Order: sequence, then structure tokens, then C-alpha cells
Amino acid sequence: MKTQELVNQDTRFTGKYASTIFQTLWFAYRPRRWILGFSLLMGLSGRLLILANANVIGIWVDTFCRSSESVRCRPIPGYFAAFQSSDFVQIMSILTGVGFLLTFTFRVLFSVASAKAVSQIYDETTFRTSRFPMSFFDNTPTGRIVTRFSSDYGNVFRLFGGPLAEFLSIVFDMFSMVVLIALASPLYLPAIVLVGICNFIVYRLNRDHLRAIRRELSASRSPSIAHFSETAQGASTIRSFSRQKSFSERFRRLDSHFLQQKKRVVKNISLFSFQMNSLTAVLLVLTGIMAFFLLQRGLASVGSLGVAFGFITLSGTTVQMFFEWLAQFEEAMIGVERLDNYIHKPLEPGARLPAEVKFMTPQWRMNAQEEVELRRPLSDKKALGIEFKDVWFRYGPDQPFVLKDVSFQVQPGERFGIIGRTGSGKSSLIQSLLYLYPIDKGLILIDGKKPQLSPQDKGVDLEAYRQAISFISQESILFKGTLRENLEISGTLSDEKILQTLHKVGLEEWSTPQDLQIRIDEKGKNLSLGEKQLICMARCLLQQSPVVIMDEATSSVDPRSEEIMVKATNEFFEGRTQIIIAHRLSTLQNCDRILWLQDGQTKMIGNAREVLKRFSET
Ligand SMILES: Nc1ncnc2c1ncn2[C@@H]1O[C@H](COP(=O)(O)OP(=O)(O)OP(=O)(O)O)[C@@H](O)[C@H]1O
Ligand SMILES: [Mg+2]
Repeated sequence: MKTQELVNQDTRFTGKYASTIFQTLWFAYRPRRWILGFSLLMGLSGRLLILANANVIGIWVDTFCRSSESVRCRPIPGYFAAFQSSDFVQIMSILTGVGFLLTFTFRVLFSVASAKAVSQIYDETTFRTSRFPMSFFDNTPTGRIVTRFSSDYGNVFRLFGGPLAEFLSIVFDMFSMVVLIALASPLYLPAIVLVGICNFIVYRLNRDHLRAIRRELSASRSPSIAHFSETAQGASTIRSFSRQKSFSERFRRLDSHFLQQKKRVVKNISLFSFQMNSLTAVLLVLTGIMAFFLLQRGLASVGSLGVAFGFITLSGTTVQMFFEWLAQFEEAMIGVERLDNYIHKPLEPGARLPAEVKFMTPQWRMNAQEEVELRRPLSDKKALGIEFKDVWFRYGPDQPFVLKDVSFQVQPGERFGIIGRTGSGKSSLIQSLLYLYPIDKGLILIDGKKPQLSPQDKGVDLEAYRQAISFISQESILFKGTLRENLEISGTLSDEKILQTLHKVGLEEWSTPQDLQIRIDEKGKNLSLGEKQLICMARCLLQQSPVVIMDEATSSVDPRSEEIMVKATNEFFEGRTQIIIAHRLSTLQNCDRILWLQDGQTKMIGNAREVLKRFSET
């Protein structure tokens, strides 16, 4: 695939920022709006006081020319008439002291409030991303999701966590300068307005292009990260096929694309900066000439001229700094935009946001009371019945159907087997039972109940529905953490009970509470396939759900371990509803009934012996 195509698959943002990002920022800052307002006020006052020193010096200078006729003096405001030099020094000390104190308080309060706001954005993004439809995870490489949570979030946090206060100080400086120059003499205001307008025009001429290439840069980061994580995961396969070269070649290509984008951004920013610098230089010369005339004609005093000229000189650098910071600010805003894109994505049908969510986006949510009520178990019965009614199922609207008009019932407490050739739809049937993908047509019920998939719909809560099922999937899923954490997340069961269960499934090597603390690597990489299956089996046993599903649960263990497992399940799952999927026919012998799936359709359903006999004849 071409590099550009890979980059293009990431979400594109064009033109203006999505309107929702301002809403997202508001949500994030709203709980701290008073602190925010208060700190902004302090920040502005602080900068105003510090810069006002220049005006005090201006008046001080003008007091010296009271007796001189050669230079036009500004009439000093009455209350300054009797001021001595020491008084001016005192005023300046107070202005500076208070100014610094206010600025410091502003920075601390604002940075803390912003850091909290940004981490709230992160939490809110996580709440939603974890509830996205399965199709999102099928179609989005992990690296691309990781980029949002690392690089994009990093850009946001880097700025909002501190430097944003710096940026705002510059904005306050610019505002203060305009006010203070106007106070010194309003005649300079046209010059200030001209500086502002010219800078703004240059900025506007560059803005869209700069924003576009920065977005391009953000989007071009994820393919190389995605490729890198994929390569790290498949390292052993890549080595065994000696394909390192083509993988590193692809990484190099993606990375050099990112570097090119980076260079383009740097080049354009430098060009922009150069334009701004030249503009400031020209404007300074013009202001100097204007000041000269004003002084000649006696329209301005020396002191006020000092104030204005000082500020206009300073404004050149300040404005430039402003635009340089603006560049970083834009980068952070693009990060917010990319997180906001996840914050506003639709969730899986039936998924509800938890009560602790703070951003009031349109997705479905629960309040604290509902959270308790809805999450009650479906039933307190030991076993529940299952019903499939004319189910048509596929993995996406543009995919072929993998279950076609499947109907059957499993009685509470029944041991129900499923057989069928590879690809016949056995695992898909479990995905549909869990409502992991939308069911196109038909209905699936547990204990006669279906999950409520939208607020208008009727039914039980999707999570409560899923909690009725414990499931050993075809690929054993383990997580980085201790053995105990992998066996039981809630942490309520006793060590003894867990160790007993491990013993039951044949994992006798772990027999003491210390053994429960052993570390399990990401995806259980430090365990054999069989060990992983046995741990998953133990986890399933500990859950004690009314419906138990085992998809090829014993395929990787030796016959003796399988025997132990079968015995353990017979004992543990006695009286519960069991669905067992297996290729080894011997595993299914003890089932009450068996469903034979062929190409997504029911080929046969009935007594275990009959179905197995017919199946083995084909
Ligand atoms: N996530 C997915 N997205 C798209 N298609 C899928 C997905 N998972 C499975 N399929 C397709 O669904 C069909 C049925 O697959 P399924 O995994 O249900 O088969 P199976 O009977 O469990 O096979 P096996 O015995 O090999 O485990 C296959 O043709 C497969 O290509
Ligand atoms: Mg399967």
C-alpha cells in the first residue's frame, strides 16, 4: 500500500476546527470556571501593573522638564505635581512587586486548572473509546488508536499543562501595551492599530496552509507507530520468514514520510516568521519617523514618546512571540480536535456511559441510581435458557452473512455442543449471542430477555445481559498483571478458593498464595498455549455464571489435561447451561444435544450420538 494511502486512512480534519472542540474545552474547564476567570483576571492585572512601570517612568521624565522651554512638556496630572524621584521609585517597586505576585498566582492556578481539564478530556475519551463498536477495533490498527492517546494527547498536555499560561501572558502583554500607550498619548494608537492589522493580515495569509500541514503532520505519525507495534507483535513470525528487510523498508518509508511532513512544517513556519520579522522592522522605522514629527510639532512630550516608542519596539517581539506560541497552540488544538473526534463518536448500540462521565455529549448515559439497578444480575437462577430466533448475522453492512437464518433453543442446564468445519460460523454464533456486532435480522434471548440497544428499545441492560455469560474464547486472552488479577478482577474471592480451582483444572504447580502473585506478561506470552487455556478455564469456573461457553477450550492441551478439564467442568458446571464448541469429537460426546453448522446454516440439530455419527460420516 502506498504511504499516502496509509496516512489517508486516518481521520482527516480540514478547514475550521470542529465546532464541538470548543464545547469539549468548555466541558473540561466548566467545573473550574471560577478559578479560571479569577486567575485570568489576576494574570491580566499582573502584566498591566508590571508594564505600567514604563508609564510611570514617562511621567517621571516629564517632571524634569517642568522648567525647560525648549522641549514641550506634558502637563503632568495634578496629583503627581509634588512627587519626588523617591516617590516614583516607590510606586514602581509596588507595581513590580504586586505585578509579579499576581502573575505568579495566575500561572499556578491556571496551569493546575488546565492540567486537570486536560486529564478530564483524556478520561472522557477513554470512557467512550472503551465502548466503541467492535467494528471500530476491527478496522482501526491499534497503533492508530495509541497515537491519539500518546502523541496527540501529549501535544495537548504539553501546552495546557503549563506553557499555555505563558502564551496567555503574551496576549495580556499585547492588550496591556495598547491600553498603556493610549494612556500615555492616544496619538500613537493609529500606529498600534496598523501594527496589529498588518500582522493579522500576514497571519491570515499563512494560517490555513499552516494548519493544514500541521494536521497532515499529526496524521502522518500514526501509520509508522501502527506499523511499529504490528512489527513488534509479529517479531517471531517476521524473523522465521526472514522478512525483516521488507518490514524495516516499510517503516523507513513511513517514517521518512513523517520526516518530510515535519520539514515542510518547519520550512513554512520559518518563512512565516521571516515575514513577520520584516514587517516589524518596516513598521518600527515608520513609527520612528512619526514620533520625530510629533515631537517636532510639540504634539507629544518626551516622556509619552518614550513610553510609546518603548512599547512599539517591544510589541514587535511580543507579536512575533505571540505567533510562535500560536503555532504551538494550534498544534495542541489539533490534538484536542483528534481526541474530541473520539469523544463524539457513536458508542456500541446498547452501551451506556457511566454516571461519573462529566461531558454531556449526546451518547447514552446512566445516572448513579440506574448504574446500580441496571447492573443487577439477569436472574438468580443457576442456569438460564438461550433462544436464537431466525438469526442473520454478519460482521458489517458490506460483509457477507456468516449466520443465515439460524434458530434453536438451549434449555436451562443443558450441555449443548456445536460442531462444523472451519469457517462454518461457530465462533461467530457466540459473537452474536454476546451482541458484539449488530444482529441484522432475528432475535437472541437469554432467559427470554434481550438487551436494550437504544433508549427507545425495550430489554435488559447490555452489560447485565453479557454478565450472565462466562466465556472461554478460541484465543486465550490474558493480560499483563499477576496471576490473581487475571483470574479474578474484583478481588473478592479468597486465595483458598482460587488455589482450589487451579488445582481442579490441573494447574497444580501453583499451590501457595505467593504463586498467585506471579507476573503474567502481556497476552500471557510467558506461558504455554495449554497453560493459558487452563488459566482461562479457571477464570471461567470462578465466575459462576448461569451460562458458560467454551470455544475450543481444550484444543491446545494434552489428552490427560483435557481429561482433567472435562472432569472439572462436569463437576463445576453441573446444572449450568453450557455451550461447547470443539473440533475433537470426543470432547462433545457428553453433550445432551449438538448443533451442526455448515456454511452458517443449521445442517442438523439433535441427540449427540446421532449428530456425531452423521458428522463423522461426511
Ligand atoms: N471479525 C471478523 N470480521 C469479518 N469476518 C469475520 C470475522 N470473524 C470471522 N469472520 C468470518 O466469518 C466466517 C465464520 O468464522 P468463524 O470464526 O465463526 O468460524 P468458526 O466456525 O469458528 O471456525 P473455526 O473452527 O476455524 O474456529 C469466516 O468466513 C470468517 O472469515
Ligand atoms: Mg472459531
